[in-house]
Amino acid sequence: MLSNQAGDGKRTSLHGHWSSKMAFILAVTGSAVGLGNIWKFPYVAGENGGGAFVLVYLACVIAIGMPVMMSEILIGRRGRRNPVATTELLGQEEGSSRNWRYLGMLGVTAGILILSYYSVIAGWTLSYIVKSATGTFVGISNIEVVADHEAFKANTGLVSMVHTLFMVITTFVVARGVERGLEQAVRFMVPALLLMMLALLGYSISSGYFGAGVEFLFTPDFSKLGWDGVLEAMGQAFFTLSIGMGAIMAYGAYLPEETSITGASATVVAADTGIAILAGLVIFPLVFANGLQPDAGPGLVFQTLPMAFGQMSGGAFFSTLFFVLLSFAAWTSAIGLMEPAVAWLVESYNRTRAQAAVIIGALIWLIGFGSVFSWNIWKDNTFFQGTVFDNLDFLTNQIMLPVGGFFIAVFAGWVMCRNSTADELGGTGTAYTLWRFGARVIAPICILIVLYFAISQVVA
Ligand code: PFF
Repeated sequence: MLSNQAGDGKRTSLHGHWSSKMAFILAVTGSAVGLGNIWKFPYVAGENGGGAFVLVYLACVIAIGMPVMMSEILIGRRGRRNPVATTELLGQEEGSSRNWRYLGMLGVTAGILILSYYSVIAGWTLSYIVKSATGTFVGISNIEVVADHEAFKANTGLVSMVHTLFMVITTFVVARGVERGLEQAVRFMVPALLLMMLALLGYSISSGYFGAGVEFLFTPDFSKLGWDGVLEAMGQAFFTLSIGMGAIMAYGAYLPEETSITGASATVVAADTGIAILAGLVIFPLVFANGLQPDAGPGLVFQTLPMAFGQMSGGAFFSTLFFVLLSFAAWTSAIGLMEPAVAWLVESYNRTRAQAAVIIGALIWLIGFGSVFSWNIWKDNTFFQGTVFDNLDFLTNQIMLPVGGFFIAVFAGWVMCRNSTADELGGTGTAYTLWRFGARVIAPICILIVLYFAISQVVA
C-alpha cells in the first residue's frame, strides 16, 4: 500500500490493517498481557507490602490508564503513521507545533530501553522451559529452588544465550509485519494463558494458604507505602497496559475506522488487570504455603511456581507448559515494544521492514547485555537505583512512561480540537465526556502529583 490517503480523505496506514476488530483487540491484549502481569506485578506488589500498593495500582489503571489508552489509540488512528510522524503531523494539523514529534521520539526510545531488559527476563523464561522439561524442579525444596535460581542468573554465558535467542525470534516476527506475524501468535496465546492461570488458581486455593494470600493482596496498610511506592504502582499501571510510549499508538494506526475505541480499550484494560490479579492470587498463597519471601524481587515467580509444580503429580509437564505460555506472552509484548521504532525507521529512512527490524533488534540486543550482567559480572557495580537493570527499570517505568502518558493525555485532551477527538471516539456522549475529563484533568494532574512527590523523595 503506497498511498497514505484513502478515497474518502481519511488516511490509511502504510503497514496494512488489522483484519478485524477482534484481531486488534487480540493484538493489544497480547501486547498488554506479558511479563508485566505475571512476573512483575506479583514481585513489585510483594516488595511494597501488598494491599495498599494494589489499591493504588488499580486506581491508576482506571483513572489514568483508561483515558491514556483511549488517547493513544485515537491519536494513532488519526495519524495512521508511526508515533514520531503521527505526533508531528497532528501537532501541525491541529495548529500546534511539529515539535510534538519529540513525544514520539520519547516513546521510540522507551520501547528500545524497555525491550533491552524485557528480553533478558524473557530469556529466563525460555531457560525455565528446559529446566522444567528436564525435571529440575521435581520435589525441589524452598532452599534449593532459591539457590538454583541464584546460580542460574549468575551463569553469564547461558543468560546471554537465551537473551540472544529471544531477540532473534522477536525480530523475526516483527520483520514479517503486522498481520502475518502478530495476529497468529496472539490468537492462541491469550486464551491458553488464561486457562493455565485458572488451573493454577485451583491449585493455589487448595494449598491451605489462599486466605493469607488474599489478605496480603487486598488488605491495605498505607503505612507500608511511601511516595516511591505510589510512583512504582503508577509506573506498573503504565507498563502493564503498554501505554505511555506509543506502542498502542502504533497499533491504533492499523485500526479500521469503524471500530469503537472505548469498547476496545475497556476490553483490554479489563483483561490485563484481571490476569495480573489472577497472577497475584496464584502466587501469594503459594509463597506463604512454601515458606518463601513475598519481597524476593524479580526472582519471585521463578522460585514460587517451579516449587509448586515440583510438588504436583505431572508437575514437570505443567511447569513446562506454563513457561511456554509465559514465553509466548513475553514474545507478543516484545513485538509491541519494537513496533514504534521499526515503523519509524521504515517510514523515515525508507528501509524495508526486515532491514529495520534487524537494525533495531541488534541495537536492543546489545543494550540488553547491561541487564544480562546485572546479576553476575556487574552485580556489584551499583549506582543511583542499583544495577543497570534497576536503573533502566526505574528510568523507563517510573519516569519515561508517566511523562509520555502525561503528554499523550495533554495532546489528545488539549491540543487536538473537540471535533477531531469526537470524530474518532464516535460522538460526544457520556463516554466521550468522561474520557475528555480524564485526559484533560484527572490523568495529567495525578501524574504530576505523583511524579513531584516521588522525585522529591528520591532526590532528598
Ligand atoms: N505490557 C507488557 C507487560 O505487561 O509485560 C510490557 C510492555 C509491552 C510495555 C509493550 C510496553 C509496550 F509497548
